[in-house]
Amino acid sequence: MGEIVLGISGASGAPYAIRLAEIFAQRGIQFRIVASDAARLTLAHEADSSPEKIAEQFGGFLEDNTNIAAKSASGSAKIDAVVIIPCSGTTLGKIAAGIGDNLITRSAIVALKERRKLILVPREAPYATVHLENMAKISSWGAVIIPASPGFYTHPKTIDDMVDFIVARVLDQIGIDNEVSTRWSGEEI
Ligand SMILES: Cc1cc2nc3c(=O)[nH]c(=O)nc-3n(C[C@H](O)[C@H](O)[C@H](O)COP(=O)(O)O)c2cc1C
Repeated sequence: MGEIVLGISGASGAPYAIRLAEIFAQRGIQFRIVASDAARLTLAHEADSSPEKIAEQFGGFLEDNTNIAAKSASGSAKIDAVVIIPCSGTTLGKIAAGIGDNLITRSAIVALKERRKLILVPREAPYATVHLENMAKISSWGAVIIPASPGFYTHPKTIDDMVDFIVARVLDQIGIDNEVSTRWSGEEI
């Protein structure tokens, strides 16, 4: 398996990114961390964390979001998937407009042009029409949109359970076999 780009933008939901990094580490999956300046705020505020801490804890390769020459943005590098979790409305808008002005957005655009898996986990409430239109546009280009909206049919007891619900859907889309969250068996009701 090639590497995975873990893009972290400044929407609320920093714990999702941290948990995904933890699972990559547990599975020995190589990944590269790219965080925006706004993500530094949300990581600190919501999880007392930082891109450096995530790299130190879970061993991902930390990229500089201003370095658009980095491996994460290379079309020839062995990158299997780009995940932006959480994905802000700003990052969503740039991708929808084809703007690759930083390493996160450039990696996403490269994923689209190379037909790599691109998974976005947007979060906003409510969504503006521009967010919805941008999601529809990017989805129509083959990206997978996983809204940060945990389900309740698994009867989550903790915030970690709710985080895992979303992270499991991301892992499924990357193609990583997992039992991170309870799966529906069809016999619950
Ligand atoms: C505490 C905090 C929470 C935020 N939550 C969201 C959010 O849930 N969704 C969103 O689209 N933007 C959110 N923002 C705003 C983004 O951080 C802002 O639009 C920023 O420009 C995003 O830049 P980026 O996409 O480069 O990370 C939040 C900002 C802060 C400071």
